[in-house]
Amino acid sequence: MTSSMRKELLDIFSQHEGEFISGQKISNLLGCSRTAVWKHIEELRKDGYELEAVQRKGYRIIGTPDKISENAIRLGLRTTKIGQNIHYEDSVDSTQKIAHQLANSEAPNGTIVVSDEQTLGRGRLDRTWYSPKGTGIWMSVILRPNIQMHKAPQLTLLTAVSVVRGIKKSTGIECQIKWPNDILINEKKCVGILTEMQADADRIRAVIIGIGINVNHRTDHFPEELQQIATSLAIEKGEEINRASVMQAILKEMEDLYEDYLKEGFSLVKTLWEANAVSIGKRIRARMMNETVEGYAKGITGDGVLLLETDDGKIRQIYSADIEIPPTT
Ligand code: BTN
Repeated sequence: MTSSMRKELLDIFSQHEGEFISGQKISNLLGCSRTAVWKHIEELRKDGYELEAVQRKGYRIIGTPDKISENAIRLGLRTTKIGQNIHYEDSVDSTQKIAHQLANSEAPNGTIVVSDEQTLGRGRLDRTWYSPKGTGIWMSVILRPNIQMHKAPQLTLLTAVSVVRGIKKSTGIECQIKWPNDILINEKKCVGILTEMQADADRIRAVIIGIGINVNHRTDHFPEELQQIATSLAIEKGEEINRASVMQAILKEMEDLYEDYLKEGFSLVKTLWEANAVSIGKRIRARMMNETVEGYAKGITGDGVLLLETDDGKIRQIYSADIEIPPTT
């Protein structure tokens, strides 16, 4: 089957999600014979799509393979902007790097860059991000918000909330956010978010939000130094997880929250973020470049800055740090 025919067929199923479509209707839409339709359906089955066939009703998709591709992401995606323009590659150095290039060449708001593998995945603070093939969600989202530049970090918090909600909706797994942008399950890191900006002197041109999610990693997939501190959705759930469905749920949450944010401002994101944050109200240790401070995490400011009350009652604003929750003695 040619890839364009396959895309058309998957598009048809996508437009009629959950419904049966008759072989005759598919053959009319694709402009091919009923026998050709049957052959195409068999090809999709070989690729891991589960298609139910019922006499006099037709076909419907009941399961998609855990394969990330433009089609797999599109089939079942319920957004109208974020993720409508998909740039997919099987292997890249970093989706973040490609997203920067695309943003420079006028890629529209909501464009996503996705890959099955990153050979040079980047994390915060110039760290590397382990991104092996076929197991994770490695994605960068390009947004073009018309907001003041100092508000851009709010989009990191918006993304963290969207990821937590998307994961919960698609898998049932509860995650917590560790300021500013780590997402943990049972105290181990499962998701990292990296937000970068392209700007002129007074205007944001694009915000590039990189999201890395460990989805189907087993513990022994992680390098030894990560095994105690990292986890994956599959490890926590005890079963394999369909990456495209997780991605779709996150993109939908992100679109809804982003629309609200642009209209109403940061307050909903702030409330949801604080409700899902593991550290708020707890004693934390913030390791910064030049010092380490301990105290109680009181909340975040409207700009996403962490407020920490030290033992002498002073409130410190923490802009960038690694946060630990020290063991209680
Ligand atoms: C962190 O340090 O916690 C942030 C990790 C961000 C990783 C993602 S994976 C997709 C995108 N491409 C990259 O190279 N990095 C981000």
